[in-house]
Amino acid sequence: MDKQLYAEHMATLRQRYDEILEQTGFDTLNVLSGRPKVQFLDDNYYPFRVNPQFKALVPVTDNPHSWVIYRRGQKPRLLFYRPVDFWHYVPPAPRTFWSDEYDIELLAKPDEARQFLSGDNAAFIGESDGLDGWDLGTPNPDELLARLHWARAYKTPYEMACLRKANRIAVDAHRAAEAAFRGGASEFEINLAYLQAAGQGENQMPYGNIVGLNEHAAILHYTHLSTRHLPEAERRSFLIDAGADCHGYCADITRTYAYRDGELAELVAAMHEKEQELVAGLKPGVPYPDLHRECHLKVGELLQQFGVIKAAPENAVESGLTGTFMPHGLGHFLGLQVHDVGGHQSAPAGGTTPPPEQFPFLRTTRTVEENQVFTIEPGLYFIDSLLADLKDGQLAGEVHWDKVEQLRPFGGVRIEDNVIVHSDRVENMTRDCFGG
Ligand code: GLY
Ligand code: MN
Ligand code: MN
Repeated sequence: MDKQLYAEHMATLRQRYDEILEQTGFDTLNVLSGRPKVQFLDDNYYPFRVNPQFKALVPVTDNPHSWVIYRRGQKPRLLFYRPVDFWHYVPPAPRTFWSDEYDIELLAKPDEARQFLSGDNAAFIGESDGLDGWDLGTPNPDELLARLHWARAYKTPYEMACLRKANRIAVDAHRAAEAAFRGGASEFEINLAYLQAAGQGENQMPYGNIVGLNEHAAILHYTHLSTRHLPEAERRSFLIDAGADCHGYCADITRTYAYRDGELAELVAAMHEKEQELVAGLKPGVPYPDLHRECHLKVGELLQQFGVIKAAPENAVESGLTGTFMPHGLGHFLGLQVHDVGGHQSAPAGGTTPPPEQFPFLRTTRTVEENQVFTIEPGLYFIDSLLADLKDGQLAGEVHWDKVEQLRPFGGVRIEDNVIVHSDRVENMTRDCFGG
């Protein structure tokens, strides 16, 4: 990554942090990367997941017991953990595109951090277990966190470069996964092909990869990874929702493939079109929930076009019928976390705007603004439990059940892209990598 781009990013970040510290009355932030968590009644550790507020300040995602001490108006200090340890990998002292932006101290033991930390007019951000008696300041103050979360919605050029790179890595891996599917691989093998092409292990993935063949495509967060090889005649559909990491920034991409020509292939092609129309609607000033409603209308159109429902699309949205087929939200903020923070936040200092009652799983109620990054991920699924409820309810007569039975073996369709909202255009990072 470019050193100058990072220096500019830090200049923006420092302005933001200085302002937020002033607004919240603190002089110092003490931010801990995290500590390894041991498994219950065991001596093995859970995979390390860095504090997102730590990686917001420095692109280090894999080093526990490290700290950023941020003092208003000063160059940030990084306490970088480098123990003498013959059991584990010890990272080298940082000397890379970002390291000039910090005063770096190396810690040989976690406790050595104490001599650098002070709780005077300070806030601590992180998990405090194991730190009893440490002088760290006020832990995780609400308004401070709210202001940091709000600010994270506006990406800097460096952050956009990371998100583009994460998309590049993920799209190359998606291509490998499709090839594995077409070659008859099991879900487990497809996932291996994905990880291999990404050059990232499963613990580096921003979330558990969703790799579902046939009916498994209907399980929204299916991460089971069956080892079964389907005979060719049984291969029908493949949904993959998988991302990648670049310096702590996430990709979150879904593609659905039909094994052969026919109705599913047509539905997938139609969903690609609807998804691109929705992406084009992401303009500064548009309330995201309006776009979500628009998405339901489009799902209603597809359901009608493919002969699944009798109702007109508008009525299907109003009655809640489309909700059976698309129970999740249109998308969410994307950044350092796959479901990036602040999607329901109503103002910089805090407060929330909950999703409309009709759409409880919508993660974004903000109004779209320049430099924000979203996923757009319309879907249409045949989910057993929701279809059973529908069949028992008063809307059962609105459905062509024979068509539902025809399409149920395909599971479902989702298409998910990652996009940046610019003042005058939407940049579709995912399609730029796929080439369309
Ligand atoms: N991969 C989780 C999501 O799309 O939100
Ligand atoms: Mn996804
Ligand atoms: Mn998503």
